[in-house]
Amino acid sequence: MFRRKTMITVLATGMLLSSGVVYAQTNSAPHAQASTAFDNKVIKKISAENMYNTIKYLSSVPREAGTEGEVRGVEYIEGQFKSLGLETRRIPFPIYDYKTKKQQAIVDGVDLNGRAFSGSGSGNVTAELVNVGKALAGTVPDEVKGKIALVVRGDITFAEKVQNVAAKGAVGILTYNNSPNGNNFGQANGEIPAVAITQAQGQELVEKLKNGPVTATLDVDIQTIEKTSYVVEAKLKPNKNKDTGEIVTIGAHHDSVPNGPGANDDASGVSAVLELARIFVNTPIDTEVRFLTFGSEERGMKGSSYYVSQLPQSDTDRMVAHFQMDMIGGAEAGEDHPLGGLIMYTIDGHKNLVTDLGASASSRMYDVAVPYGQLGRSDHQPFHDVGIPSALFIHSPVEPQYHKPTDTLEHISKEKLQQVASIVGASAYQIVRPDTPALNRAHVSPASVDYDFENRPVD
Ligand code: BES
Ligand code: ZN
Repeated sequence: MFRRKTMITVLATGMLLSSGVVYAQTNSAPHAQASTAFDNKVIKKISAENMYNTIKYLSSVPREAGTEGEVRGVEYIEGQFKSLGLETRRIPFPIYDYKTKKQQAIVDGVDLNGRAFSGSGSGNVTAELVNVGKALAGTVPDEVKGKIALVVRGDITFAEKVQNVAAKGAVGILTYNNSPNGNNFGQANGEIPAVAITQAQGQELVEKLKNGPVTATLDVDIQTIEKTSYVVEAKLKPNKNKDTGEIVTIGAHHDSVPNGPGANDDASGVSAVLELARIFVNTPIDTEVRFLTFGSEERGMKGSSYYVSQLPQSDTDRMVAHFQMDMIGGAEAGEDHPLGGLIMYTIDGHKNLVTDLGASASSRMYDVAVPYGQLGRSDHQPFHDVGIPSALFIHSPVEPQYHKPTDTLEHISKEKLQQVASIVGASAYQIVRPDTPALNRAHVSPASVDYDFENRPVD
């Protein structure tokens, strides 16, 4: 894929060049540089107090996706964006809960006490069993058509096994474990009834099949409950006469785990998104900024995936950087690593525009080049997947309160909030400030810095 952003380069000067013109490196002193006047335009206005108050409001009620608590948070976030005069949208998307009403696998009148896959199809089927081993792609025989596939765990995901046998016309799938520990199962996509039994039960059936046909019944009834979760989007448009056509996105997830206050995970990130929005609305820019909060991150980045999927290609093509903030205020996170353990994780473990700008900004402001590492587990993933340079700003290792009822306001550090919002704010501002190319030539651009890869365990 050849995209506009592939032409954007961060030179040794740390500046963005969208023109392909190479400017001389003028400012590469190895020693730390102080914050620039540009940094100050943003960072002097950041109020950790504001951020703290946002976290206080959001964390007083759990914000599990699809619940009233999420809606309460969304209304607050939307209200804040609107009061700043931003073009704001609440984008709904469906999420699904599954309730298992019936899950049976019966062979020769014996109930095997099977467990239905999450997302198993519903139905009551009786048919002959066919042993198809691991059900690897290309190995499933045609004779499975109209029959129930008997499949062993291993090598590929359960979801792939279901897909492979359903594609060959199987009417059901009975999986058995490859270890003696219970009836392990996976996720399916509603294709056919899918039931898991134990290793011993499966091996017994394999033996039995050697002596002649075996008929099985799978009876599964799974109720699907649809709920609604949201993405909140606020657009800040640049001056019409000075528009690079590019878009920078700054995001966090607003949902919490069920019953979790989620003060740090991730009301903290939301508080920084709102605070940066408050500052950028009064700052001239030449590049669109989108402030985003995502629902259902805790269910597998569903909100950010939906957001990216509904973008017109013309928007995706113009997106040059995504800054994701998740868990940016944990007082007890980061052990004794510099800057509270702040690290920038990318999906592929490579540096990109976002990490270059982040390391440069943190060096100027705090004399510490924030390291980078490799990790998914947050909403930078879907942005990366469509080719947008992205990184997750997080303190690592995470605090002991992670995903616990103790993830509360008392464990939030205002200093950490201030630092991360400053680094992300100053980094984004390097892209969106109107004078970027001109000032490159004026020899006052910030220096780039060396920064390290760290293979730091996150939890
Ligand atoms: N804020 C975390 C991400 C995280 C936690 C990163 C701990 C690194 C260490 C995020 O909200 C989360 O918990 N993500 C899920 C992702 C999953 C649902 C796809 C996780 O990591 O379990
Ligand atoms: Zn999180």
